[in-house]
Amino acid sequence: MTPLHQVIINKNTKINPIWIMRQAGRYLPEFREIRKLNPDFIKLCLNEILSSEITLQPLKRFDLDAAVIFSDILMLPYGLNQKVEFKKGFGPILGEIDINEMTALDEIDFIEKIYPVYKAIKKVSSNNLMKNKNTIGFVGAPWTLLVYMINQQSPKKNLKQDFFKDTDLIKNILLVLEKFLKIHIKNQIENGANVIQIFDSWAGLLEEKDLPNYIYSPTLNLVNYVKSLKIPVICFPREIKNYKEFCKIVKPDAISIDYNMDPKEALKDIQIPIQGGLDPKILLTDKETLKKEAIKYLDIFKDHPYIFNLGHGILPETNPKMVECLVSIVKNY
Ligand code: CP3
Repeated sequence: MTPLHQVIINKNTKINPIWIMRQAGRYLPEFREIRKLNPDFIKLCLNEILSSEITLQPLKRFDLDAAVIFSDILMLPYGLNQKVEFKKGFGPILGEIDINEMTALDEIDFIEKIYPVYKAIKKVSSNNLMKNKNTIGFVGAPWTLLVYMINQQSPKKNLKQDFFKDTDLIKNILLVLEKFLKIHIKNQIENGANVIQIFDSWAGLLEEKDLPNYIYSPTLNLVNYVKSLKIPVICFPREIKNYKEFCKIVKPDAISIDYNMDPKEALKDIQIPIQGGLDPKILLTDKETLKKEAIKYLDIFKDHPYIFNLGHGILPETNPKMVECLVSIVKNY
């Protein structure tokens, strides 16, 4: 059984597999080299030769237990024909939504538009480097995708004041997302993804009263869908106000915690397998501090099924040597 499955399915507490959120990316010089020659980020994600190569880059350097496919949560709105661009030093910029067109969109046309993502998953999962490792497919949670689709860029600290104004539009986008997220998940699994992670990067923007509508209910629906395909699902509701309640209601197979969640609280409140937590900024310090902080997480979760990871994506300014050091700390624990 693959390492992540041992922890998530068998609840094994003797091993601590490790992968790193955003492990295929800008902190690696070999990625930056490819990126320099490919200024269009979406096109790069849709080049299955390059995107599978980029996916495998961190596994060639480090003894990681999983590959996370080089793609983006915003490939979904792109597949729905909303314009998506990535501006250097600014982040994603999305176009206007044509909800009628989106509602009428055919499954075949969606799949055709982002088909290279699935081909890349197939290439990666059949590579020799992937022996006894997991291939992680992923999607953005409905709430986080809704935020990008309506806000048309990252929300930084707060949502626009009139974000919730058009309730019909929101309702219709959520329906479209429910349909196409399932299609996207199914195709990733059919091509070799054997774990699915749901990124809800903007869960922390909502007040508790809005969680049932925008997070619990749509995420539960997706989680149940992944479970029906017999593939384990990890949720990352970043900075949600109440992880305990989230786990009780949504019941993912594992939960990824952010770096503001106190790991001791997590251990006390959460019964399912836990992943992540370490502040990515720790990788910008020194090896002693890194060791101390990593061991803190490993000690706290020593009798709990635990997958080592960060509490959010690795920072672009990270020195790859620090990642190597982290992996060896975890492997030698
Ligand atoms: O190893 C990996 O994890 C790579 C695959 C991956 C990317 N994005 C590639 C990427 C994954 C899993 C994501 C998820 C993603 N994308 C999330 C959820 C996780 C999180 O960080 O909260 C979100 C919110 C996005 C949306 C997104 N994509 C933003 C806001 C940005 C710009 C800011 C940033 O982090 O770079 C992106 C661009 C992006 N996605 C890059 C990469 C490698 C950088 C592109 C570049 O080279 O400029």
